Amino acid sequence: MSLQLNRSVFGDPAHAGNVLSREEAYGLLNEWVKNERLQLHMKQVAHLMRCWAAEKEGLGEADQWRWEMAGLLHDADWDQWPEQHCKKIIEELEARRIDPEIIHAIASHGPNHFGVAPETKMDKMLYAFDELSGLTHAYSLMRPEGYAGMELKGVKKRFKEKAFAANVNREEIQDAMQRAGVELESIMQFIIEKQGAVC
Ligand SMILES: [Fe+2]
Ligand SMILES: [Fe+2]
Repeated sequence: MSLQLNRSVFGDPAHAGNVLSREEAYGLLNEWVKNERLQLHMKQVAHLMRCWAAEKEGLGEADQWRWEMAGLLHDADWDQWPEQHCKKIIEELEARRIDPEIIHAIASHGPNHFGVAPETKMDKMLYAFDELSGLTHAYSLMRPEGYAGMELKGVKKRFKEKAFAANVNREEIQDAMQRAGVELESIMQFIIEKQGAVC
């Protein structure tokens, strides 16, 4: 099964700035994603994207929502149509005339799978958060206190343990950090601080 998208242009520049309303985006999420764990993952990544846009990029509300929306819908087709991931959600957002930057971020959230390189900061941060968010959440589930009192050294330890959350590809995470020009530890710390709000 190949998930290669075999294209490099997504959406229409004339649709720049077009977004779904919060209701529409959550409606799509609920309609397409029945798996609660996956829904939670998408909401967590969405939250990280919003927080990063606001706090690290200094972006305003409209852009924060664009970043959040990319995170919220990046895996929308994974539950019901894994063999079409992420082709199906891209086509849906193109049909709904959504901002091409949001669609490109979704298309490039796994360059090794989809064959699309992350270009913008939005692209790169979505790729950087995706897998590490999952690993951190898996760690929270094995701690009696969840996210409370979670420390960087604990996450680093799990990251090094290949058997822990073995489906999380560590090399891909390192690749994502390099492409985004961010330090692994600082992203781990950011996730620790923010992700507990959505769990
Ligand atoms: Fe994905
Ligand atoms: Fe994901």
